[in-house]
Amino acid sequence: MGAQPEQELFLYDPSLLLKLDFYRSPAKFNPPITAVAPGEPWLKVRPLKTGDYRRGFLQSLSQLTNVGEISEAQFLNRFAEMRAKGDYYVTVIEDLRSNKIIGSATLVIERKFIHSCGIRAHLEDVVVDDTYRGKQLGKLIVVTVTLLAEVLGCYKMSLECKDKLIPFYRSIGYVDEKGNSNSMTLRYANQNRL
Ligand SMILES: CC(C)(COP(=O)(O)OP(=O)(O)OC[C@H]1O[C@@H](n2cnc3c(N)ncnc32)[C@H](O)[C@@H]1OP(=O)(O)O)[C@@H](O)C(=O)NCCC(=O)NCCS
Repeated sequence: MGAQPEQELFLYDPSLLLKLDFYRSPAKFNPPITAVAPGEPWLKVRPLKTGDYRRGFLQSLSQLTNVGEISEAQFLNRFAEMRAKGDYYVTVIEDLRSNKIIGSATLVIERKFIHSCGIRAHLEDVVVDDTYRGKQLGKLIVVTVTLLAEVLGCYKMSLECKDKLIPFYRSIGYVDEKGNSNSMTLRYANQNRL
C-alpha cells in the first residue's frame, strides 16, 4: 500500500463559520454574500489549513507587508504554536479553481482580568489579492472575523489602519471614537528573541 497523504489540519473549528449571522452586520453587500455563500461556487471562506503554505498564503500576505523568506517547516511550526494557543483565528478565502489563497484576515483574542475576566478581539493582517479587489471580498473577510469574535464572546474588537481605509472600516461598523482612536507604535531595531 502506498503512503497515505497526510491529513491537513485546520487552525480552528470550521463549523464556527456556520454560526455567523450576516444580518447582524451593518455592512451592506450588493449582491448579498456571506461566509457560507460567498457569491461564486469557486470561492471558499474557511480557517487557515496546514496545506496553505503550498496554496500561496504567504505570497498573498506579501501584498500587505514584508513577509520574509519562510520555509514550510517554519510555517508549520508557527501554525502549530497558534493552534495550541487557541486564540488565533486566521481566516482565508480560497479560489478553488486555482487552489490559491486570495485573501485573509486574522482575529486574535486577548484574555483580560478586566471586564470580569473578559476577552477582546484584535483585527490583524487584512489583505485581498490585487486581481480580486473591488468585489466585496475585503468586506466579506472582515465581516466574517468580526462576527466570529462576537460568537466567541468578545466584548469588543479593534484595529489599526491607514487613514484612507477609515471609510472602509466605518462601513463595516467600526467607529473612530472621539478622543479614543489614537494608535502609537514603538518599533524595535533589534528583534532577537529569548
Ligand atoms: C483593503 C482591502 C483588503 C480591500 O479589499 P477589497 O476586496 O478591494 O474591498 P471590497 O471590494 O470589499 O471594498 C469594500 C468597500 O471599501 C472600499 N475600499 C476598498 N479598498 C479601499 C481603499 N484602499 N481605500 C478606500 N476605500 C476602499 C470600496 O470602495 C468598497 O466601498 P463600497 O462598499 O462603498 O463599494 C484591499 O484593498 C487590500 O488588500 N489592500 C492592501 C492591504 C491593506 O491595505 N490591508 C488593510 C490593512 S488595515
